[in-house]
Amino acid sequence: MSTIADRPTVTLPRSVERIVVGEATSDGAGVKLNRVLTQQLQRRLDPFLMLDAFGSDKADDYIAGFPDHPHRGFETISYMIAGRMRHRDSAGNEGLLENGGVQWMTAGSGVIHSEIPEQEHGVMEGFQLWLNLPAADKMRTPWYRDFKAEELPRLTTAGDVAVTVIAGETHGVRGAVTRDGTLPLYLDLHMPQGTQFAQPLPAGHNAFVYVYRGAVQIGGQSVSAQRMAILKNDAGSDGIRIDAGEDARLLLIAGRPLKEPIAQYGPFVMNTQEEVFQAVRDFQNGQFGERPR
Ligand code: CO
Repeated sequence: MSTIADRPTVTLPRSVERIVVGEATSDGAGVKLNRVLTQQLQRRLDPFLMLDAFGSDKADDYIAGFPDHPHRGFETISYMIAGRMRHRDSAGNEGLLENGGVQWMTAGSGVIHSEIPEQEHGVMEGFQLWLNLPAADKMRTPWYRDFKAEELPRLTTAGDVAVTVIAGETHGVRGAVTRDGTLPLYLDLHMPQGTQFAQPLPAGHNAFVYVYRGAVQIGGQSVSAQRMAILKNDAGSDGIRIDAGEDARLLLIAGRPLKEPIAQYGPFVMNTQEEVFQAVRDFQNGQFGERPR
């Protein structure tokens, strides 16, 4: 799908609150990644719990993937720019995530899944975002869907910015997934040099940008590649305006905060410690279902 859409009006754009470098770490069976949104930022960026960026052309950095592991209480959104990852879970789902595809998984009451690369060389690059669920939905039935690149809604703005709409709505185009409550917006923007992008957004929604190619300017502040910019919730602001002084690619992510307590232990994110302990017991007792094979 491709649409030419007019530029929406944003008259009081937000400014940058801070630039975040992220932490080099590894997860799963030793996959090297940059944890951009760390646990310390969960309150500030509520309803988002984590953003990992992984990218390497060295097989040793990714080849072992993420073997069987559980999740409860939130959603994982994986977006693959390059490479192939095979997913299997305890709900019986299986899918292949590849170039430009998105996998949206609602862990809800609990899943066990594995994410294993299906390549032995070449570039592997992508992102995993964790979106919290409201207390009332944390124990809902797990849900899962794969979107191939060509199934994702896309548009090109009148200003020549190519947009993939993973979640939410922009320029009159609805994303692959929408959610009541947190109203997540998740856009991948490809901005040629000299272009501008504007997105209306309520001042109360938390928002950030992650640049993965080139650099952009937001309110006069430069944001370069591998950097996250947390955007201020300036009172009276009505959106975001981004300028690309050079070719740039970036994620724009925003949502309405839940303002509920967050209790996390590894892959379990609940509202209280007791609920987290319960999650660990339920997992150990086999209540998350059969391990995928
Ligand atoms: Co996982």
